[in-house]
Amino acid sequence: MTVGRVKVAALDDVPMNGNKAFKINGRSILLCKSDAGVFALENRCSHMFAELEGGRVRGAYLFCPKHSVRFDMRTGASGGTLTKVPLQTFAVTVAADGNIEIDWPE
Ligand code: FES
Repeated sequence: MTVGRVKVAALDDVPMNGNKAFKINGRSILLCKSDAGVFALENRCSHMFAELEGGRVRGAYLFCPKHSVRFDMRTGASGGTLTKVPLQTFAVTVAADGNIEIDWPE
């Protein structure tokens, strides 16, 4: 398993106001891009564990495609009543070469 900073994808691989999932260290990580920035979260809703890929991205928020819970991509915090469990987030760096890197926890 790789720890430390891990390259995930090129910035252009992620659509604006959208997202795309990538396998990192055996886990599905969702990269999201909007006018609020680039974010990395676990690709698994904390409500009923649906994949979040394809969910609507607006500003700093991601909406689960299954039951529309809103997550703050900056913190992983959920809104509404269906789940109070936050998503795991990963610190993102956009490197000078245009690649998106995330900090992988030990
Ligand atoms: S599975 Fe995501 S809101 Fe229900």
